[in-house]
Amino acid sequence: MLNVIVLVSGGGTNLQAIIDAVETEKISNTRISGVISNNKNAYALVRAKKHGIENRCISPKDFETRAQFNEKFLEAVDGMKPDLIVLAGFLVVIPPKMTERYKNRIINIHPSLIPSFCGTGYYGLKVHEAALLRGVKVVGATVHFVDEGTDTGPIILQKAVEVEPGDTPEILQRRVMEQAEWKILPKAIDLIANGKVKVEDGKTVIL
Ligand code: GRF
Repeated sequence: MLNVIVLVSGGGTNLQAIIDAVETEKISNTRISGVISNNKNAYALVRAKKHGIENRCISPKDFETRAQFNEKFLEAVDGMKPDLIVLAGFLVVIPPKMTERYKNRIINIHPSLIPSFCGTGYYGLKVHEAALLRGVKVVGATVHFVDEGTDTGPIILQKAVEVEPGDTPEILQRRVMEQAEWKILPKAIDLIANGKVKVEDGKTVIL
């Protein structure tokens, strides 16, 4: 049984997709044992509470220094004994000690086809604003392992989504979430839970 914790900062629609997939057994061999947010107002915490999932908020704002936050944050993560950590709209930089300790056991959902529109400053609506500004015809989402960089770890799954005439960043974000994020993130967790993802030479092999 894969013990999964989900780190969130916002609305939690990706968290909801994971919860629903576990409850309908689209994700097998998996238990969501906790949710941690840096934002006490994150609706994702409400979603966790509704499903009886242990949840807590740890915010950098509550600490004098980032180092003090990092220590307490890592303690809270360790305390939930995760086999896999899922970043689902999580907007806080992961402490280097954590990416080392949980090498190839942290995954992230990014709302673009990496390596496009990713890296520092590309998150949430900003990703879709940049895509529309560039005039790309295809966008999408990527699930990848988290390493010491930003959106640079081995790619696990990607799914493409068409840009449509008249798209605004908000319309495009919603389509990418509905057609890509909410599908490939649960799928990636199910693959990992069933031992079907290996990392070789910095790239993933899906068995
Ligand atoms: C979405 O844009 C997602 O692509 C990104 O975080 C945003 C919020 O997601 N990872 P959620 O509704 O909190 O899951």
